[in-house]
Parts: sequence; C-alpha cells; structure tokens
Amino acid sequence: MNKKMLVCSAAVLAILLAGCTGRQADRTAVRLEGDDNPNYTVPESALDVTEPQENQEDITSQVDDALISFVREAAVASTGPQENKEEPVKEQVPDVIYVPTPQDVVDKMLEMAQVKKDNLVYDLGCGDGRIVVTAAMKHGCKAIGYDIDPERVKESLENVEKSKVGNLVTIEQKDIFTLDLSEADVVTLYLLPSLNVRLIPQLEKLRPGSRIVSHDFRMKGVKPDKVVRLTSTEDNSKHKIYLWTTPLRKAIKKNKTSAEKID
Ligand SMILES: C[S@@+](CC[C@H](N)C(=O)[O-])C[C@H]1O[C@@H](n2cnc3c(N)ncnc32)[C@H](O)[C@@H]1O
Repeated sequence: MNKKMLVCSAAVLAILLAGCTGRQADRTAVRLEGDDNPNYTVPESALDVTEPQENQEDITSQVDDALISFVREAAVASTGPQENKEEPVKEQVPDVIYVPTPQDVVDKMLEMAQVKKDNLVYDLGCGDGRIVVTAAMKHGCKAIGYDIDPERVKESLENVEKSKVGNLVTIEQKDIFTLDLSEADVVTLYLLPSLNVRLIPQLEKLRPGSRIVSHDFRMKGVKPDKVVRLTSTEDNSKHKIYLWTTPLRKAIKKNKTSAEKID
C-alpha cells in the first residue's frame, strides 16, 4: 500500500469512527494531528469536552479539520525533507598555473600564425587576456579567451575594458577541455606538453588551414611546421614558439622505419 492509499484509508477510517463513536472520534482526530510527536499532549480545549455529544455537525467539522492537517502533514512527509537538489558547485582547478607570455613573444606568436582581420582567435587558458587583446588591437580580428580561473577571467575582462576592445574580444570562464574549437582559425596555447597532447582530439576538429601556436611546449606525436627561438627583451630569457597547420601531421620517429610513428 502506498502513502496516498494509506492516507485515504486513515481518512475514511477516521470519518467512520466519527460517525460511530462521537467523542471518541474527536479524540482520534486530534491524536492524528500530533501523531508524529510522542510527547504531544492533547489540549483540553481541542477535545472540546464541553460540547454536547449529540452535536454531530460540530464533531464532523472537527474531524474534517484534523483530517486536513493530517493529510497535509502526510503529503509533506511523503515527499521527504526538501533537500537542495542543485548539484554542488565543483571547484574547478586549473591544470597549469598562471605564467604570462612576455609581450614580444605574444607579438611573434600572432605573427607566426599570420592572423588576419577576418580570423577568429582562441586563447586556451587566457590568463590576463593579453593574447586576445593583442590580436584585436594589432590585427583587428575577433578573439575569445577562455580560462577556468575566475581571478584570471576578472583580470582579462579588465584588460579588455582598459584596451577598449570589448567589441572584438570575449572572455569566458570555461574548462578548455570541454570546448568545441571548430570555429577558430587560430588557437594559441601556453600550457604544458601533456595538456597540448590532451587537446589533440579537439584540435583535429579545426578547419583545414587553421593555425595553432604554442609558447614553449611541443605536442608529442605531431610534427610542427616551424619552431622559432627568441630571447625576450622583457625577461631576457629564451623562448620557443611552435607552429602547426591543420590537418595535423603525425611525427615520424627518427632512426626507425618510416612506418613506425610516434604515439
Ligand atoms: C601559463 S598560463 C598562460 C596565460 C596566457 N595564455 C598567456 O600566454 O599569457 C595558463 C592559463 O591556463 C589556465 N588554465 C589551466 N587549466 C585550464 C583549464 N582546464 N581550462 C581553462 N583554463 C585553464 C590557467 O588558469 C592560466 O591562466
């Protein structure tokens, strides 16, 4: 028997008792109200002991009231405590810490990718938004920066506003591994070698002729078109930039037969 049927049966039983036993039904109904509280004591007034027993209409109305509250309580009880059904918000942890690309390296990355005005540039893990802002300012193209870290997203948005490129640049807080990259013409990366490899299935969905540039890190198993080394005047350190053009080409292991490919 389900809860609804139980409630209806209890209601019918209480009504029958009210009809048959008068004041006893009155007590039954009041007891139902405090059913789930063992310490519930029936107030004398609720028993309405002063009313004449033959006043059947009053008794019936008291039974009705008691049943209504019983049914309402049973309905609430049947749905259980109202839990917060929303998914707990998962803390999204960056896969790599924030280190900005020096500005002269950013300029070279976009130059190597031959960014044009009608291109759409994605920076995966955009940090303070410097790559997408530079793409818009220097090349006049649209660009989207994605970062998982809300602090970085805030900085990027401030950078976009300060640089007045809000008409061209969008910043979104997203995990880059959930993105559909098929609309991008240019994808820029400054992640880690292992993360570049993890992105291969998404990068393979880029249109033919799209460019991918990575600061410092290669993509194991994929042959770059070009690797440029430069020393940044900002940090006086050496940097590497890798360029790939889609469709991606599998790298061939050296000193092995040409059929053996790097996995
Ligand atoms: C090394 S920084 C590069 C910043 C910027 N692209 C640049 O070159 O100046 C890497 C950035 O990737 C972000 N990041 C790490 N894992 C991510 C993920 N799964 N999804 C989105 N962003 C991520 C970090 O928050 C950080 O801002």
